[in-house]
Amino acid sequence: MAQVHVMDHPLIVHKLSLMRDKSTGPKEFREAVEEISTLLCYEATRDLPLKEVEIETPIARTKASFISGKKLAIVCILRAGLGMVDGVLDLIPNAKIGHIGLYRDPDTLQPVEYYCKLPTDISSRDVIIVDPMLATGGSAIAAIQFLKNYGVQNIKLISILAVPESLQAIQEEHPDVEVYCAAIDEKLNSKGYIVPGVGDAGDRLFGTK
Ligand code: PRP
Ligand code: URA
Repeated sequence: MAQVHVMDHPLIVHKLSLMRDKSTGPKEFREAVEEISTLLCYEATRDLPLKEVEIETPIARTKASFISGKKLAIVCILRAGLGMVDGVLDLIPNAKIGHIGLYRDPDTLQPVEYYCKLPTDISSRDVIIVDPMLATGGSAIAAIQFLKNYGVQNIKLISILAVPESLQAIQEEHPDVEVYCAAIDEKLNSKGYIVPGVGDAGDRLFGTK
C-alpha cells in the first residue's frame, strides 16, 4: 500500500455520507467536496517546515514561527479535481495552481490527457495533487509521472475515496507519494466505479447527468 492517511474524523465521515447519498444534489455535493478537501489539506500540510523569526508583539520581543521551505502548488486533475481546489486554497491561499486534463477511456479505463497548464516554476515547488476519486489509480499515476517528468520532487495526493487496488497501484509506481483520503471503499465494479462509492464525481459536481 502507498503511504496512506485515512482521515476518518467524524466531520469528514458525515460529509462523505452526504456525498454518497444519491439524493444529494450538486450544490450540497460541491459543498461537501470543498469542506472535506479543507480538512484533508489540514492533515496533508502537517509537516510543512517552520522557521523562527524575531518579531515584536505589542508587549515584548519574541521569536515566532512561520511556514518556510519550498513554495507550494496545487495541481488539479480535471474535471472533478476542480471541486477540491477552493477547499485547499482556503488553507494555502498563495499556492499557484496547475491543471492537468485527464479522462478515463470508458472501455480501457486508461487515462487520456487532453490539457495541461502548469506554473512555469513548477519544478521548484512542492506539489499537492487533488482528485476526489482513485479508482484504478491510472489517472493519479499518470499525473504524478507527468509532474516528475517536469522535475517535481515532492508530491502529495489528496483524494476523497480510494479502493485497495488504486492504493496498491500508486504504491507500486510511486512509493514516495503520500496519499490523504477520507475512506477506502470495498472494490471496483465491472465498469471501474468505486463500490459503494459516490457515483461519477465529475457528473455529480457539475450536474452533467
Ligand atoms: C474520474 C476521477 C479521476 C478518475 C479516477 O475522472 O475524477 O480522475 O476518474 O479513475 P482512475 O483512478 O481509474 O483513473 P473522469 O475520468 O470520470 O473524468 P471527469 O473528472 O472529467 O469526470
Ligand atoms: N471516477 C468516478 O468519478 N467515480 C468512480 O467511482 C470511479 C471513477
